[in-house]
Amino acid sequence: MSPDISIRPYQPGDVIPLYEAARESTATIYPWLPWCRPDYSLEDARQWVESRAEALAAGREYELAIVSGAGRFLGGCGLNAIRPERRVANLGYWVRTSERGRGVATAAVTLLLAWAREHTPLDRVEGLIAIENTASLRVAEKAGGTRLRVDRNRLKLHGVPHDAVVFSFTLRKEV
Ligand SMILES: CC(C)(COP(=O)(O)OP(=O)(O)OC[C@H]1O[C@@H](n2cnc3c(N)ncnc32)[C@H](O)[C@@H]1OP(=O)(O)O)[C@@H](O)C(=O)NCCC(=O)NCCS
Repeated sequence: MSPDISIRPYQPGDVIPLYEAARESTATIYPWLPWCRPDYSLEDARQWVESRAEALAAGREYELAIVSGAGRFLGGCGLNAIRPERRVANLGYWVRTSERGRGVATAAVTLLLAWAREHTPLDRVEGLIAIENTASLRVAEKAGGTRLRVDRNRLKLHGVPHDAVVFSFTLRKEV
């Protein structure tokens, strides 16, 4: 069963919950997303929340918070590296450690793709996932992504090159 979650723009009240979520999740997130450093600070969270609201309004990046039905902050998902001329963007997502393994990321990505169909001119979304990141590969598959290829040394994480699986999510078909 799909978990009771929603996605929405970041709001000022997310600063402390985002900070707490990031700090509890260093062990699971930092290996794949280097922003989630062991010394992630309240100031980092404040800057992220403020800048994402502005980037969203300007259409530069679509980064949204994932929250539970009860309002608990669960993680984030978003579309970034937008290439307007090709109508394509990159997909990103993370879920705090204490909420992993109950379908939150898959549900959030499904909602994000539906949101993008409605609110953006994008035709396609790409996911670039380190080949060792099995949980993330599974999320991309479950959310309906098509596995296109493996790019050698495509991602550099903590200075180490990793092969990456390229996934594609089609938002619009030609008529
Ligand atoms: C990847 C991540 C977003 C998954 O969040 P989640 O809410 O736990 O994801 P879901 O519950 O929707 O699905 C996870 C799937 O991966 C599977 N999985 C989890 N850990 C796994 C592992 N070590 N090996 C294999 N499969 C694994 C789960 O069993 C589940 O698949 P299933 O439904 O077929 O059982 C979360 O672990 C995370 O934030 N990771 C760090 C950040 C990251 O890697 N982001 C993506 C960058 S490309």
